[in-house]
Amino acid sequence: MQGVSVKTQVGIIGGGPAGLLLGLLLRQHGIESVVLERRDRAYVEGRVRAGVLEQTTVDIMRSLGVGGRMDREGLPHDGFCISFDGELFRIDLKRLTGGSQVTVYGQSEVMKDLFDAAPQRGLQIEFNAENVSLHDIDTGTPSISWSQDGDLRQLSCDFIVGCDGFHGVSRTSIPSDVRREYEKVYPFGWLGILAEVPPAGEEVIYASHQRGFALASMRSRTRSRYYIQCAIDENLDEWPDRRIWDELETRLGPHAARNLTRGPSFEKSVAPLRSFVTEPMRYGRLFLAGDAAHIVPPTGAKGLNLASSDVLFLSEALAHFYNTRSPTGIDEYSARALARVWKAERFSWWFTNITHRFPDTTALERRLQLAEIDYIRGSTAAQTTLAENYVGLPLGSGGAAPTHHSATAMRLMEES
Ligand code: APR
Ligand code: PHB
Repeated sequence: MQGVSVKTQVGIIGGGPAGLLLGLLLRQHGIESVVLERRDRAYVEGRVRAGVLEQTTVDIMRSLGVGGRMDREGLPHDGFCISFDGELFRIDLKRLTGGSQVTVYGQSEVMKDLFDAAPQRGLQIEFNAENVSLHDIDTGTPSISWSQDGDLRQLSCDFIVGCDGFHGVSRTSIPSDVRREYEKVYPFGWLGILAEVPPAGEEVIYASHQRGFALASMRSRTRSRYYIQCAIDENLDEWPDRRIWDELETRLGPHAARNLTRGPSFEKSVAPLRSFVTEPMRYGRLFLAGDAAHIVPPTGAKGLNLASSDVLFLSEALAHFYNTRSPTGIDEYSARALARVWKAERFSWWFTNITHRFPDTTALERRLQLAEIDYIRGSTAAQTTLAENYVGLPLGSGGAAPTHHSATAMRLMEES
């Protein structure tokens, strides 16, 4: 192949949260990588996504030395609320899980911190990398080619990691007869807004209403993030701010909406909801991590947190390989990651099912949804199940038993 050719240990495709966290974790282990990102920094940072970090994600940020701003500006939450049929109750995460919390800190802020740290840590990121393609992934000498500034470039590496999200090129480079894909597309979307107004409450509120789901969240004490369930092909022109606020007030219910502060929205978009898993998360010298391998509906905010645990597992496995030349860790990666992924898929699917209105929901099924939520309200056992999933299941639970851990993984597992 002609053009500029470089060499590294791990070639990472995609510079979202999965790609950057992985690059920084590998640097910490003394492993070199290059990140190839199709877009520019402003685009990646500007995408508005969920904003609830599990303790594991918080700990990874801290262990990388990039948690300073998160610790100052992030909002630790000890619980969240559920509203249904005009009622409101609280899930006390801290009490139910023996001390765990979540931290509200937007993904854009996480990306800002990771991008700022990259040059200081010597992590090379190539932005505007077009036509990325993978070569020889089933050999010991894989490579990636791309075009940039009119040049054809090539990266030779030991391993490739696909962190390029659901629409990336990595997953589909795995032959289709090896890939098993599981998918459900939900028959609705989420219309999300950001507004420079104080949040409706101290904590996040999930609302199940006859007219559909609603969610009151936040980015700071002065910036709110709201969502309402809508049609997949909803026309945003039909949703002026006033209609959104009215709908939020109705769906959140009288208690939750009591402190709803209205104001102009400065971001308004519709996101689809999907459950998706591809197996295995490895083929030859290619590994998949984050949204490239799995998607969850946002109910429960697991997407970014799953990307974090994937790349923690993978960085451990690659470090083990480079330190010992033993393939045990990289051989176990897919099963270990998938064991946690499937449980988060189950949780996000279940939480979506009990809180959303489906087109074919019968009156009986609506009553069953309400009975289930009422059961959660009255049962410590049910609340504990919800809480332990919400704060994030332990890193080591289920699936393949990992045979090696670094100090970071050991500490995170002991704490979780
Ligand atoms: N070549 C290079 N880069 C690509 C390509 C490609 N062909 N295709 C996609 N990318 C880049 C995207 O521009 C994006 O920046 O890969 C990145 C993938 O990032 P995400 O979609 O955010 O996926 P991930 O890093 O796995 O993060 C998972 O973050 O964005 C959320 O909803 C997501 O919460 C989930 C979590
Ligand atoms: C958000 O703040 O964007 C958010 C919070 C909780 C969710 C999903 C999204 O479950």
